[in-house]
Amino acid sequence: MSTPTPTLDPASAPAEQATQRSRTATPRHYLMCRPEHFTVAYRINPWMDPAVPTDTSLAVRQWQTLYDTYRELGHEVQLIDQVEGLPDMVYTANGGFVIGNVAYGAKFTHPQRQPEGPAFMEWFREQGFEVVEPKNVNEGEGDFLLVGERILAGTGFRSATDSHREVADLFGREVVSLTLVNPNFYHLDTAISVLDPLTDDAGANIAYLPSAFDDASRRTLERLYPGAIIVSEQDGSVLGLNSISDGLNVVIASRAKGFEGQLRERGYNPIGVDLSELLLGGGGVKCCTLELRA
Ligand code: ARG
Repeated sequence: MSTPTPTLDPASAPAEQATQRSRTATPRHYLMCRPEHFTVAYRINPWMDPAVPTDTSLAVRQWQTLYDTYRELGHEVQLIDQVEGLPDMVYTANGGFVIGNVAYGAKFTHPQRQPEGPAFMEWFREQGFEVVEPKNVNEGEGDFLLVGERILAGTGFRSATDSHREVADLFGREVVSLTLVNPNFYHLDTAISVLDPLTDDAGANIAYLPSAFDDASRRTLERLYPGAIIVSEQDGSVLGLNSISDGLNVVIASRAKGFEGQLRERGYNPIGVDLSELLLGGGGVKCCTLELRA
């Protein structure tokens, strides 16, 4: 009896390779904001309903779990004090976009959040960052994601495309504009998760929800990231993609069960946290985390 020669199904090849890649965690540096004044006082995205009561102490406890998770993973976390009357400040991802010593400030779309821009810039200045005042409307890492050398930039609901050009000039990097079309996924970080933030060559370095994008942006993503993880509508709708990876450990919404399995298959270590209270403001894990990259 002869042993059949194993054949590789070409369609499954990228996933197979990705599974066998060994993943490595690298220590990160984050900025967070304890949600001491968290509430939903206005509605600037479909998740928010001021008529639904919020529980600030529960929000703080859930946030603390996320903070502790990062610390246990060996990441450094710095804090900015929440300003009373700025309930969305907990979503620090929107406070700027930082590469090296340069912090590009945020200029918020909605008047309710506009005072956050200067508050974050002041914090960056105090910490010794070179702060670049933005000329155009942009909501920081909510819409700018660094994937290897390239920056993916979102538009459609918040950040203006002019800010994409501003960022390209400032950091001297390729910036790929992507247009969001579903108001539930109003920031790029609700529709794309960067899994291998430091490398650009991996088979699966991002995960995304195709229906959140217009046709042209979907084609761009297919071309640039053929090995990406495509998540289900269900995982997308619990903001499963709004996650933070250190290259191995991926902190995700605990309700995103399908995504959790997909990550495991690719050799990542998913860690679920429950931020149900902060979801009432339309934010998840990534929204509460701004990366301060060396
Ligand atoms: N309530 C906030 C807003 O609508 C939520 C921000 C979520 N942040 C994020 N990075 N997606 O602006």
